[in-house]
Formats: sequence, structure tokens, C-alpha cells
Amino acid sequence: MALGGPMRLQPHQRTTQGLRGRGRRPIDRTGYGIVVRRNRSPSRGGAGSVSRMATGTTNGRGDFFASLVQDHARIEARLEALERAADALSKSESDASALGIIAGTLGFFSTEGAHHEAHEELTLFPRLRPLPAFKQILSALEFQHRMNADEEQKLSACVDRFAPGDGRELRRLALRFAEMQRAHAMAEERAMFPLAASSLSPQTIAEMGREMLDRKRGVAPIE
Ligand SMILES: [Fe+2]
Ligand SMILES: [Fe+2]
Repeated sequence: MALGGPMRLQPHQRTTQGLRGRGRRPIDRTGYGIVVRRNRSPSRGGAGSVSRMATGTTNGRGDFFASLVQDHARIEARLEALERAADALSKSESDASALGIIAGTLGFFSTEGAHHEAHEELTLFPRLRPLPAFKQILSALEFQHRMNADEEQKLSACVDRFAPGDGRELRRLALRFAEMQRAHAMAEERAMFPLAASSLSPQTIAEMGREMLDRKRGVAPIE
């Protein structure tokens, strides 16, 4: 596993994974112990890619996990647009379309993003909770969900009260939000999904897939 297994994924634990031999050491700004390079989706290939693992190592049992990974790809596209808009707004604070893109991104996270989190928190995590191997990774990922929500709120407040002179602060918040979301998705794809896919029974994974569909149809809870 790319991060050396779930035991190594602790909030605030810094790591140099993936950086060896690359000269200057990038900084982990997320506090999640993962350095994510800008515009690099956790879902786009790489040895730890779950899209590969979901179809390759779970023998067709990966629909639930593949769907979560597809969500991550959609999230990544939104994050890239968010970063571009925040850059544009920091250069021209009267750019209404850039502010609109940022507000739209927040809208996406409060709807589709909330659904994605519900698939994880209400469907996946409860099935893993009885398994001792997942104790630490679950607490790390739940902590990250809370941190991401806090960061989303800060960004949202900044957008709501946006006024000339706020461009740099909004950009700072947007970039931090994007990095935290990326680091979190990468942690899930590398440290949790493959292990979960191989630890749960095919029946359980099929049941989770049905629950996910029910939630998408609006007949399963989202919180
Ligand atoms: Fe998550
Ligand atoms: Fe996720």
C-alpha cells in the first residue's frame, strides 16, 4: 500500500511519502500528513489508484468503491475550477463570474459532496467499525471530514461577505480547502478503500451498493 498501511495515517503526522529522490521537499499544508501536488487528482492513476484496485483486485466487487472514486474525480474537477477562479479573483476582485464559480463549488459540496460523505459515513464506515484493523484509519478519516467541513464553512463565510480587499484571503482559503479535500481523497483511495474492499464480504459490498443507489434516489438518509 502506497502509504504503508492505515496504521501510518494519523492526523497531523507528517510524512515524506512519494517525495524521496525529488530534491526539495514540498510542505504538507493540510495537517493530514499527505502532500498533494496541485492539479493532481488522487484518482488519476498511480500505484495506489483505487479505480485500478476496484476493478483489478476486488474481482468485480468494486462497484461501490469505484463509484466513490468516480465522485473523487468529479470533486477534483471542481477543485481545479475553484483554484482557477480564486486565482482570477485575487487578480481582479470585480470578476463576478469567478466569484460565481466559487459559490457554485460550495453549492456542489453542500449537495453532491454531502451525498458522497453520507455514502462513506453512513454506509461504509459503520461496516468497518467492528473490524480492529480499521480503528485508527476510521478515526483519522472522520477527523478529516470534520476539518474539511470547518474549512468549507470558513470559505463560505468569506464568499458571503466578500468585498474589495478580500481577494487574497479568499484565495488562501480556497487553496487550503482544495488541498485538504485532495489529501483526504488520496488517504481514502490509498489507505482505506482497497483494504475495505478486500475485508468485506461480496454480500456486504453489494448491500452497500444498493444503499448508495437508494440514497441517490432519495430514499436513504444523508445524515
Ligand atoms: Fe471522505
Ligand atoms: Fe471520499
